[in-house]
Amino acid sequence: MSTSTANPAATHKLYIETVGCQMNMLDSEMVVADLRRQGYELADNVTDADTILFNTCSVREQAENKTYSALGRLRQAKKDNPEKIIGVMGCMAQKDQKLIFKRAPYVDIVVGPGQLQQIPGLIDKVRAEGGKHTAVSLGRTDGKLMDIKRSHETFDPLRDPTMRPTPFQAFLRIQIGCDKFCTYCIVPMTRGPEQGRHPQQIYDEAVILADQGAKEIILLGQTVNSYRHVDKDKTETRLADLLHKLHDINGIERLKFVTSYPKDMGYDLLTTIRDLKKCSPYLHVPLQSGSDAVLKRMKRGYTVGEYRDMMARINETLGDKAAVSSDFIVGFCGETDAEFQETVDLVEECRFKNSFIFKYSERPGTKAHDQLPDDVPFEVKRRRNNELLQIQNRISEEDNQKFLGRTVEVLVEGPSKRHDAAVNEIKDGKAEDLNRVVVGDPGAAGKSDLVQLDTTQQDAARLQKQQFEGKPLQLTGRTHCDRIVVFDGSPRLIGQMLPIGVYEVCGLTLLGTAVSESKADLISLV
Ligand code: SAH
Ligand code: SF4
Ligand code: F3S
Repeated sequence: MSTSTANPAATHKLYIETVGCQMNMLDSEMVVADLRRQGYELADNVTDADTILFNTCSVREQAENKTYSALGRLRQAKKDNPEKIIGVMGCMAQKDQKLIFKRAPYVDIVVGPGQLQQIPGLIDKVRAEGGKHTAVSLGRTDGKLMDIKRSHETFDPLRDPTMRPTPFQAFLRIQIGCDKFCTYCIVPMTRGPEQGRHPQQIYDEAVILADQGAKEIILLGQTVNSYRHVDKDKTETRLADLLHKLHDINGIERLKFVTSYPKDMGYDLLTTIRDLKKCSPYLHVPLQSGSDAVLKRMKRGYTVGEYRDMMARINETLGDKAAVSSDFIVGFCGETDAEFQETVDLVEECRFKNSFIFKYSERPGTKAHDQLPDDVPFEVKRRRNNELLQIQNRISEEDNQKFLGRTVEVLVEGPSKRHDAAVNEIKDGKAEDLNRVVVGDPGAAGKSDLVQLDTTQQDAARLQKQQFEGKPLQLTGRTHCDRIVVFDGSPRLIGQMLPIGVYEVCGLTLLGTAVSESKADLISLV
């Protein structure tokens, strides 16, 4: 809870920009909710706002550069209006700390992802006393494990449904941090040690979300299927146990979880997904590379053979209902043409629903940065990225053909514009610079730079305008297996579960039309 002493009657205008993964989206939701309770309102742009927050990501250099450029654009605004408060929160705040004040001296506060509850208080402090303030968590070697863990705990306070991009979908954090230490990855440093939240806390939060109208809950964790909590009485709770508990909550219709770690995709979890009808058979299990030698250099902790075994377990348990997606890093330290070819071959073999493909970006503070040369030329990374993307897109399109003529059950998410833009970016091969691409995509473990909470307001305005002008509205939704479906319909359908007949496949998107319930009953829903 906030420590702010602000007068709740006072109104401030907040502009917040969010990049990075779903963890960041959820963090922004929490911070906005907290500030709203202090009397803040959301502004659509920097000019109208008196408080500007950037929720940042450090996973690739590009993401950081974009934030520093956005900050650069505020230099003049701060000069003109010195009372405007500028804050940097999230992973880059934790990683760069005081360096941010050096690069952008007009920033007022820097707050790591484990200290977000301090934001209202720090803003008040700047308003009252001025000065620069930092609130970050302990580094991985800065003390006793218990203290480090505590300093990274997230505050996940009572939820505010009005602050979710879509009120009927909600993220629920079940795990904080990561202990896998893949050699390329900064996340264990920015989010701290892996901690499973208490199952009762998670359950209580899910009940609140269901009461607020959430139909789909997406459980979040960096290696979410490694979730484990051991109670004082030694009772152990794993993800499968949690899914069983959450499945009983009235109002929740779909349960998803991201991101999964290949080695922890056991039969217990897979049979749970098979047996519980609310659990989506959608599994995001990043492979990263199809070469054993590269996986070893990445310290991913599994071999290609073990990943194949996992795919076999998935196919055996869930059959063709399963939709598996992956992440890849191309051009990792020392990656040869032959090693890249192994990745291509494995993508052909595994036929992922979709893949997010990234060019390796060296991150100071990681083992790869310290010990392995970033020796694959940028041009080679770019070529490999595009090649793999094209292969994956072909596979996605081919496999989507099986939906032609079928009826799928879709949770209607909203107007389709953002998805169209995102999908086009994937097709154009531009997407690799973004952390993740499909905006508003609850199925993947990251988010693009395009995500801003205030898009909700823009969508609402656009919606109203379209209604007013009487134009047909193109809506978008998602199947249980996380495929995007676009169709025409009334805005009243947003937030509903609907049967949609698929008549065309366009890249990663299924085009469909709403069918009547009775007709749908005759066809098996996917
Ligand atoms: N916890 C998740 C993903 C976290 S980051 C997991 O383990 O899968 C999201 C994705 O960003 C990763 O899957 C990886 O593909 C990519 N990534 C992480 N560090 C990167 C780096 N240094 N350069 C390029 N891509 C990176
Ligand atoms: Fe990063 Fe994921 Fe590896 Fe953790 S498991 S270090 S978050 S890539
Ligand atoms: Fe942090 Fe998520 Fe980026 S954990 S580094 S915001 S991918």
